[in-house]
Amino acid sequence: MGRALEPFVALTGAGVSAESGVPTFRGPGGLWQSRRPEELANPQAFARDPLLVWRFYAWRRSVVARCSPNAAHLTLADVEDHIGDFTLITQNVDGLHEAAGNRRVVELHGSLWRLRCTRCRERWEERRVPFPEMPPRCPSCGGLARPDVVWFGEGLEQGILNRAMSSAARARLMLVVGTSAVVHPAAQLPLIAKKAGAWIVEINPEETPVSIYADEVIRGPAAQVLPEWWARNRDE
Ligand code: OAD
Repeated sequence: MGRALEPFVALTGAGVSAESGVPTFRGPGGLWQSRRPEELANPQAFARDPLLVWRFYAWRRSVVARCSPNAAHLTLADVEDHIGDFTLITQNVDGLHEAAGNRRVVELHGSLWRLRCTRCRERWEERRVPFPEMPPRCPSCGGLARPDVVWFGEGLEQGILNRAMSSAARARLMLVVGTSAVVHPAAQLPLIAKKAGAWIVEINPEETPVSIYADEVIRGPAAQVLPEWWARNRDE
């Protein structure tokens, strides 16, 4: 590659967790193939039928709770150990990057392991599996709790988005792993990095909108090709 590795930014999507057994959203077997996101992952659905939405997230948590980080997650934890200026931005809500050992993760779309009050927006960790039968009440104001994830039609939290965008704008290297790169604003991050002069490496078995402008495209499953890529580049 012949380029300095820092600042190094990785942007991950559902594909990085695919080999851990977490279903992706799009493509064969994807979550949005069998369930209609507009019925489940939006604030109106939760207002209409909180229990239905709650149960969907209870099911997703129980799936993720059985999964462990794979070699791609572990490689990104190793990257964090070796690179001083490294930012890991993920669209995933499964918590597997933290489980692998990454400590500074920018979670663009929230986390399955946190709840948020629908009234006062207080957030707290909730790691019980299975989820409680009913959405609990906020410890501060008694409002109804909801999963702390970003739903369709909702904006990302401004501070988190700013952090992601400024990291992208100063990256010299951006690794884009396992994302279809169709959901905005996450999908803009590689473009921001590219325009600012970063070297873009895409890891994905399929073509995506990033493939056209990536400097390096590695077609293959992340758990296999990401460790190989890192082994080739870490000591450069
Ligand atoms: P998608 O399900 O849209 O895309 C998954 C990507 O992973 C596809 O491009 C696959 O080709 C790729 N992939 C599959 N297996 C892989 C593997 N073993 N290694 C590497 N790549 C693999 O998931 P995202 O792009 O993450 O948002 O989806 C973005 C957002 O859409 C999600 O965060 C979620 C969803 O609606 C919210 O919930 C807000």
